[in-house]
Formats: sequence, C-alpha cells, structure tokens
Amino acid sequence: MMKKANDISKIETQRYSNGNDINYETEKTRSDQSIDIIKENPNSKILEDESTTEIKLSLPSASNPLNARRRFHQKTSTNVQGEFTLPTNPPITVTIQPQNTAPNENFQKVNSFHDDQIYSPDQIHQLINEHRISYDISLRGTSTIVNYFMDLLKPSDNKLAMKLFGSKKGLLKERLRQQRSGHCIIHPCSNFRFYWDLIMLILLITNVIVLPVAIAFFSEEINSLRWITFNVISDAFFLFDIVVNFRTGFSSLNSTEEILIDFVSYLGVLRNDYIDEIILEPRLIAMHYIKTWFMIDLLSSLPVDYLFLFFDGGDHTGGYTIARTGRAIKVLRLVKLLSLLRLLRLSRLVRYIHQWEEFLSIASMVMRILNLLALIILLAHWNGCLQFMVPMFQNFPSDCWVALNGLQNAPWTEQYTVALFKALSHMLCIGYGRYPPQSYVDMWLTMLSMVIGAMCYAVTIGHVSALVQSFDTSRRLYNEKFKQVEEYMAWRKLPRQMRNRITDYYEHRYQGKIFHEDTILTELSERLRLDVINYNCRSLVSSVPFFTNADPNFVSDVVTKLHFEVFQPGDQIISEGTIGDKMYFIQEGVVDIIKADGTVLTTLSDGSYFGEICLLTRAKRVASVRCVTYCNLYSLDSSQFELVLESYPLMRRTMESVAAERLNKLGKNPSIISTRHDLKRDAAVLKNMIDRATP
Ligand code: CMP
Repeated sequence: MMKKANDISKIETQRYSNGNDINYETEKTRSDQSIDIIKENPNSKILEDESTTEIKLSLPSASNPLNARRRFHQKTSTNVQGEFTLPTNPPITVTIQPQNTAPNENFQKVNSFHDDQIYSPDQIHQLINEHRISYDISLRGTSTIVNYFMDLLKPSDNKLAMKLFGSKKGLLKERLRQQRSGHCIIHPCSNFRFYWDLIMLILLITNVIVLPVAIAFFSEEINSLRWITFNVISDAFFLFDIVVNFRTGFSSLNSTEEILIDFVSYLGVLRNDYIDEIILEPRLIAMHYIKTWFMIDLLSSLPVDYLFLFFDGGDHTGGYTIARTGRAIKVLRLVKLLSLLRLLRLSRLVRYIHQWEEFLSIASMVMRILNLLALIILLAHWNGCLQFMVPMFQNFPSDCWVALNGLQNAPWTEQYTVALFKALSHMLCIGYGRYPPQSYVDMWLTMLSMVIGAMCYAVTIGHVSALVQSFDTSRRLYNEKFKQVEEYMAWRKLPRQMRNRITDYYEHRYQGKIFHEDTILTELSERLRLDVINYNCRSLVSSVPFFTNADPNFVSDVVTKLHFEVFQPGDQIISEGTIGDKMYFIQEGVVDIIKADGTVLTTLSDGSYFGEICLLTRAKRVASVRCVTYCNLYSLDSSQFELVLESYPLMRRTMESVAAERLNKLGKNPSIISTRHDLKRDAAVLKNMIDRATP
C-alpha cells in the first residue's frame, strides 16, 4: 500500500544538507491537509511509489503573495532550498526549490528593498520616491486619475495597517507588494476598502431596516417606481460589492494556505513570520471568496424577484381574466417572498461591522454588547414585520390578530406599532399583545417569536455576565481566594482568634486585590521590569538612608531582589539564637529589638533595617525582633545579600560599621563582624555621627 506523508507523527530534530537544525512536529491530519495543498500547487509535486514518498516543494519567491511577510523586522530566509529525508517508514524525501518567476523589470528596483537592512528616514523617503518613479514608469501613458485611483487601492497609513505592519517601513513594503500583485487588487487596509465598507455599511443598514417594512406594509407598491429604483440602486451596489470582494486581499489566518506555511515552518525552512499575512494573489482570493461567502452574497444580491416577474410575463396571454388575476396574485406573493432573500445581506452587515471595528481598533467587550443590542432590536423589528406579513399573505382571515384589532385598512404606522408591540411582548415573554393568538398560524408565529426572544435573552445574559466578569478581575481573584481561605479555616476548625488574625492578615496584605505580580513582571521587558520595580520601591528607597545615599546602581540591584512581606502586631520576626537567612528593610511600621533578658534594647521604624548581623557573621541572631504595629517590610535573602555586597565593597563596609556599632550597644565583641583593622574606627565615627544627629 502506498504510504503518505501522514506517517510523520513525531517531533524530531534533523540535520539537513545545508547544516541547519530542523525542528518539526507534524500531526497526522495536519500533514494530510498540507499534502493536499501541495498537490493543489501546480509547482509542487508528490511522487509516491511502494517504498518511498517524495515531496517537491516549490517555494514562492518575492513576487508570490505567500512570500511577503507582515513582520518585517524579522530576518528573512531568502534562499530556501535543499533536500532532506524524514525519518518515517517508508522515508519521505522533501525537496525544496525556489519558484521560478520573471519579475517585471520595473519592479526589480523595488525588490532591492531588503528586510535585513537598516534604512534612515531619508533613505526610506528616497525609496518611496524611487518607488513612485518606477510606478510611474509602469503606468506610463495612464492618467493621473488612474494613478490616484491605484493609490487608493494600496494600504494606507491607518490604524489597522500600522497594527498589522508595525512601522512605516513595513507599510511601504506592503504597498510595494500590493503593487507587484497585479492590477486592481484591493488591499484590505486601503482607503478604497475603508470608504467602500462605509458606503456598504450605510446601504446595508438601510436595506435590513427598510426591506421588511416595504414587503410587509407596502405590498401594493411593490411595482412602484420608487421601490424599483431603490431596489435597482441597492442591488447594483451589492452586485458590484461581489466584484470588489473578488479583488480584495484577505488575511491568511485560518486559510488553507496557512496550513502549508505551517507545515513548511515546522520543517524549519520558513519562520513563523509567514503566518497571518495578507494574501493578494487573485486566484487565491477568488478561491477563498467562493469557498466562504460568495454564494450567500450572490443570493442576496441577485434581483431574483424581478427576474421571476420578467420570466413570468410571457405566460399571461390568452387565459381567462379570473385565472390570470389569480395567477398574478400568486406570482406577486412569490415575488414578495423572494424579496426576502435580500435579508441575507445581514451576514454582510455583520462582516463589515467587524471590519470597521478592526479599522478603528474599537473591538471590545462593550462594542460586542452594543452590537448584540442592535441585533436584538433589528430582530424585534423583523419579527414585528413578520407578524404582520403572515396574515397579510393569508388575506387577513377573520381570526387573525390584524382583523381582531381591526387594522386591515389602518395607516402603516399604526399597523407597524401594534405589530412591534406584539412581537416585543412575545420576545420578552410578558404577554401576547392586545389579544392572545386565536388561529393556529398566529400561535405558531407567537411560539417562534418566544423562542427567538428567549435565545436573545440567554445570549445577552451571557455577554453581560462576561463583561461584568472582565471588570476588576483582581478583586474577583481576591474574593475567590478569600472564600477558599474561609473554607479552609472552617475545615481545619481553626480557633476563632487565629481566624481573626488570618482575616486581618489578608485584609492588610492584599487590601482587596490580588495580582500575580511576579508573572506580570516576568512578562515585561528587562528594562521595563527594572523601572517598574524601582518605581514601586521609591518610598522605601527614599525612607531608608542606607539607600538614599548609596550608589544608584547598588539601589537598583538590591530592589530587584527584595520581597514584600507583612507582619502583624506581636509577631516575632526574628528569635535570638536562631540561624537567619534574611535581613529586612522597614518600609512602614515599628519593631522592638529585644535582648536575651526580654528588655527592649531599642525600637526601629520606617527606613531602618535589621537582621544584617547574622548574614555578615554567618553566626546566630544576636537579638530578637518583634512587631509593635503592622509592618510592611522588604526582605533580602542571604544568597542575594552576598551577591550584591560582593559587587559593592563600599556598601559592605558601611553595613559592617553599623553592625559593629550595634554589637557594641549589645555589649558584644564587634570584631566578629570583620577582622579588618579599621572597623573599630569606622564604628566610632558612625557613633559620633549618630550622637551628633540625635539631640
Ligand atoms: P541579627 O543578629 O541578624 O538579628 C537580630 C537583629 O537585631 C540584628 O541582626 C540587628 O540587625 C538588630 N540589632 C541588634 N542590636 C541592635 C541595636 N542596638 N540597634 C538596632 N538594631 C539592632
């Protein structure tokens, strides 16, 4: 049996002929699809026989849309070629060769714009001018209006383009790529597409509102000039929109081409920067459009109702008048029903609104809810029209709601108001309008609108609760965590006093919000992380004299290694005689230094530090430290302490001097801190300074 590339099912590292490492992971389905795509590509081949499978990949060159990348800051893999064998049974040989293209002479200059070269603004300007010149040459003989029009089709300097292409240089490259892609290819980020979408948006909104009203309430005027003109104009626009869609590039994301690119990038040949680019190749655009929205767009744009009238026109000769009238009425009803096909334009409305949100970068949860509300209002409007249209098609039987309300010949505004009231009453499940349904048709209609209403209600609740959930996530996280702690305390049957202390601790430590601060900080760039940490510790640095007068690099080094800790009044932070592994800086709070006999030697507060003697001497703690108030401390562990002081010997000296003076006060020998000869002198100088500073 012939084996296919779906035998590739492991992650392996292969070294291929040009010496690069290739990492690839190919799943069964993925490779299957990829092979299909390779098969579709006329320049790529799969040769299979009993024992081996050979894949020939013809990779696109610069003129192929697959070859132009969105992330231009990354380096390009230009000459991608080679041959390697996948370790499958039977082995699969993949040959990669560049695709042969014959670029236009005018564009060769354009192609000299390289990713990996750094351009000054002047050079970019010059390149733009050169690009214009080459472009002018290519359009020699064409008028400036055509030039202007062609320029409209290129990506412009809008928010979406900047988001996609990252920089002016990236945008310029994309413009060049668009130019290479052929005549009248519209870039999705172009000004033309922007304004076209705007026109279509207005037209679509008008259509989805006016059409059902016209069909339901103005059925007699279906052949009036006003109505036909409106239909002809909007149909013409919608048909032209199909042509525009056939020429508008699309994002490769989710497209079949992406699977090929994925496959190749897994092999290590191309980098991921090929993914999610704008496809501008006319054949691919057409294929993509036909596979996605073309049928719905065509169905909603073709004037099938008028075509029907046109074809039907020839049959009305020579029949009996009554039969003809009856037939004409049936045809007219069918025409009205077929007009409803235009409501399929709603799909386009949703798409264009989405595109516009992308253009303006306003896609958010709030926008989604606004869209949803608009959709619900539109559904209610359609439902109202439907409520009237069905009895109208039945010629208003005596038990229908229109006849019960005596609205057969009322003005359309009155009919519409009662119909909308009825529809909304059903949808919100608060009644049946003015009369409950009498006929079966009315009952079915009521049930339908109740179901639609319930669905709208469910979706709205879902969206709104998601919106509420997205607000204040840190508070929600805190509440969830605290709930868990409460459950834990109850489960462990902790005593009341301990529970109160834990609750106090949580309130003081987190103050109602929990952030995964470490994760947030590690996700930042190094520079940014350093700046944020320095900013967060600014009050500590300004309050601790040891930092205020220190080398800024030392401060910056230390603060990145600190950990925030909170202690409660009465907490014993340090116990005398124990081995210590951290020292503390007091940001806020008061601690007592307690001697072995239990007397308070001294009290330290904001800006002081303690616990350093143990780290300097690598001996036991010389005193105990107890909290008097709530204390916000920053701790530094022994390994980091050593690391920092090693790089800043002067700071070590200062710390040693303070420690020696403290030991002096405790009546202990300061030489355990250091054996250096000038330690005593430093300590004496320090004591002198402190004595003079404190009256
Ligand atoms: P360490 O021995 O690691 O732990 C107890 C800490 O109390 C000690 O470090 C000093 O930081 C601190 N300490 C001891 N004596 C004094 C003092 N006289 N003044 C201020 N702090 C002191």
